[in-house]
Amino acid sequence: MLTKDYINEVKTNGNGNIAKIIEGLKSTSNLSYFLENLGFLPSNFDGNVLLPYINYNNSNVRFWVVKNLGKLKNVKYIDPLSKVAREDKDSMVRREAVSSLGRMRNVKNIPVLISLLTDPDPKIIAQAIRGLLVFRGNETVDTHLKQLVHHPNEFIQQVIQKEYFPKQTNNSHLSHTESYDYLKNVVVNGDVREILQVIPEDSIHLTFTSPPYYNARDYSIYPSYKAYLQFLADVFEKVHRVTKEGRFFILNTSPIIIPRVSRQHSSKRYPIPFDIHPFLVEMGWEFIDDIVWLKPEASVKNRNAGFLQHRKPLAYKPNPVTEYLMVYRKKTDKLLDWNIREYEWKIVKESKVLGNYETSNVWRIDPTFDKSHSAVFPVELCNRVIKFYSFKGDVVFDPFAGSGTMGVAAKALERYFFLTEKDEKYFQIIKKNLGSKSLFANTESRFLSLNEFKELNKI
Ligand SMILES: C[S@@+](CC[C@H](N)C(=O)[O-])C[C@H]1O[C@@H](n2cnc3c(N)ncnc32)[C@H](O)[C@@H]1O
Repeated sequence: MLTKDYINEVKTNGNGNIAKIIEGLKSTSNLSYFLENLGFLPSNFDGNVLLPYINYNNSNVRFWVVKNLGKLKNVKYIDPLSKVAREDKDSMVRREAVSSLGRMRNVKNIPVLISLLTDPDPKIIAQAIRGLLVFRGNETVDTHLKQLVHHPNEFIQQVIQKEYFPKQTNNSHLSHTESYDYLKNVVVNGDVREILQVIPEDSIHLTFTSPPYYNARDYSIYPSYKAYLQFLADVFEKVHRVTKEGRFFILNTSPIIIPRVSRQHSSKRYPIPFDIHPFLVEMGWEFIDDIVWLKPEASVKNRNAGFLQHRKPLAYKPNPVTEYLMVYRKKTDKLLDWNIREYEWKIVKESKVLGNYETSNVWRIDPTFDKSHSAVFPVELCNRVIKFYSFKGDVVFDPFAGSGTMGVAAKALERYFFLTEKDEKYFQIIKKNLGSKSLFANTESRFLSLNEFKELNKI
């Protein structure tokens, strides 16, 4: 019986017998099982017994032959492995051959790995790059790798960019954790586009916002949907500039409905999150997650009345019980660990998200209805975003502040808020909601016009 113990015994007692045993394994599944379970190979293992199977008609068998030959790290297998890397019909087998060549860390492999840099399969190229990066500093290797910064595949571009052309980041005089005092617990009444112009780059730790809903509500009128998207893109590009390296931007939107003008027309749906996404990626936000905010069905507008009666196909209109929280990160070569390490241990410890938390990307939260503003955030939504995506003492920003819910949550969670709101009426509501002194730090809330704000930051 072919068992793991038996395979281990055969392998460790020298492999004089192995060739015979392999020959005796008539079925492909037994052969595959045997090769897959060879595990660690002793230094006296003779890989030649595997060579006859390198062209076997089953790709799984070929894969394991290649993998086992790779474990031996013996230069005598460079040629057969190179042949597989170039010619095998199965891409998994080819990738494994490139990986085996790379793991040998032998200069003799440089030419074959370089030849694979023009392969049509980006994963083969990625494996070849990995193998070649071991020889960084070798002029030929560097020259070939650097050229790949223009490769059409974004993953390859990114790897080369990070290795050879790291971006000059943090142009600010502040450390990653610090921010300007004139942004702390400040609300500015004005157009966010003008306000952001006077803020230096790398100033904000987190932005969470819910922008105007095109023309679905009464507070903002845009000449066209295209102009509306352009407006949002303009704002979010400015947000990108002022955001600190590798930090988060969370956008709350959902497809909206513009009601029909008469019975002769149909209502129109606008998929805002999907339409704005390409702009965000283009301007340097990296997509991280889509969180779905799920509301109770009883709390949303009922669109089912007609269908409930007639039950005719095509006219089905589900009740929209969800909104998106699209999570983006300012694109950087640095890993999240870098961001976290910038903070003192005490702050990291105090900012930990303890206790139960939502583990899925579906957040069940009741909406908030408010007489003073038609689209306020539930505080719980802000609480979660702030806790998951910022540290205590950070500056969190809402460019479309409305009634200032984001500020209320930030204050309670010991973060500083920075809010902008164009409408004087809502600005006054924020003033009411955030007027009292912060419990944390002695920073009083300040409510400023654009001119006062400019004066404050001396620009
Ligand atoms: C959907 S509401 C935000 C509600 C907010 N999340 C809350 O909890 O109350 C959008 C807000 O953006 C404001 N707004 C629209 N255009 C703006 C602009 N250019 N600059 C600043 N605020 C703007 C509107 O007046 C409105 O209050």
